[in-house]
Amino acid sequence: MADWRKSGWREKPRVQMPDYTDPEALAAVEAQLAKYPPLVFAGEARRLKAQLGAAARGEAFLLQGGDCAESFEQFSADLIRDTFKVMLQMAVVLTYAARVPVVKVGRMAGQFAKPRSAPVEVQDGVELPSYRGDIVNELAFTPEARVPDPQKMLQAYTQAAATLNLLRAFSTGGYADVHQVHQWTLGFTESEKSAKYRDMAARISDALDFMSAAGVSSDQAHTLHTVDFYTSHEALLLEYEEALCRQDSTSGNWLAGSGHMIWIGDRTRQPDGAHVEFARGVLNPVGLKCGPTMTDDDLKRLLWTLNPENEPGKLTLIARFGAGKVGEHLPRLVRTVEEEGAKVLWVCDPMHGNTIKSASGYKTRPFDAVLREVREFFGVHATEGTVPGGVHFEMTGQDVTECTGGVRAVTESDLSSRYHTACDPRLNASQSLELAFLVSEELTRLRDPERVRAV
Ligand code: PEP
Ligand code: CO
Repeated sequence: MADWRKSGWREKPRVQMPDYTDPEALAAVEAQLAKYPPLVFAGEARRLKAQLGAAARGEAFLLQGGDCAESFEQFSADLIRDTFKVMLQMAVVLTYAARVPVVKVGRMAGQFAKPRSAPVEVQDGVELPSYRGDIVNELAFTPEARVPDPQKMLQAYTQAAATLNLLRAFSTGGYADVHQVHQWTLGFTESEKSAKYRDMAARISDALDFMSAAGVSSDQAHTLHTVDFYTSHEALLLEYEEALCRQDSTSGNWLAGSGHMIWIGDRTRQPDGAHVEFARGVLNPVGLKCGPTMTDDDLKRLLWTLNPENEPGKLTLIARFGAGKVGEHLPRLVRTVEEEGAKVLWVCDPMHGNTIKSASGYKTRPFDAVLREVREFFGVHATEGTVPGGVHFEMTGQDVTECTGGVRAVTESDLSSRYHTACDPRLNASQSLELAFLVSEELTRLRDPERVRAV
């Protein structure tokens, strides 16, 4: 892109970024990061873009999920493995229902910086700068912990590199074998209340048995044995993003080397702002969060700023309105996109519009509201004749108690028992898988008219 530079964002108004107090220390970290290898490669980002293009046409389906915020303290192989594992389980269930490939993208290996609703936090009359994610400062409520420290970018890079290394090993090393993944799911569906999930799981077992009987085994079929798994995060801390930006030698285009896909948050999507300026120039697929305050005019500008060539798979619109508000906002935005003739992938984030404070003071999300927003999203696309192309969840493979509800019901009084998130409440392993089954019902419904016509 001729009129774009990786540092061009510096001349634009910025929001939600820390004010580093020591410019020399910051510059030293940026120089060091700029010498490090990129975490992802241009060919991978292009392949993901092609797959997202397929999802926009209804020929694939996106499953994007992971932590609200990755944490330095909770970094471990087991946590990464468990989230990866649940995402694969969800993907098998969704693939079976959608009858198209599921594109798997983790909120992982870079999801460290957080936008906040207020720049300061007050506790017992003491005011301190807000915590902005482990790449910026620390959660502890002390003045020292809240000072932004550029060195943390180096730790984030190292953790992201180690996370990606493990994900790449899991993806190809036999762990992702579809038969094994399905065995784990059978364990979940043995619980008493989940008869309807057990039924779908049994049908998936039949399909796998049939393939084996027909001679398609994992040993021969590479695709049953390995998966593509991509990484993504909100490109919020632009010093980090710029330092990892690399020019692709084959095309001359610029790659955000920090992850396969980046997205722009609902609080940083000003059409003339720094975050849009950075994201418009990179070759990676870009996500754009769309909340209730997204206007039709802003969306029009953003469509063409972020994807001037109308390239399929380049732009993913992540709708996050809240249950009960989808009908008010999504139809107008879907129509704006259609009127513009813009190619986008529509994805539903049923998390960020459904955060409430429980009576006990914990931030939580009721499972029912999450599910309701997903259903409303599918409903609007059915009415408008457009494609509901994916889902975006905050989730973990751990048995946490952060969102209420689900078949293994978490109640408000349970929240305190295993509330571990560094930021927003996540679905636990059981709730995530349950949601995959429920999304599958929507996908099956979507497919039905086709099937009827085909017969
Ligand atoms: C997020 O995805 O963690 C987030 C902050 O989302 P949003 O920008 O949609 O509020
Ligand atoms: Co969040």
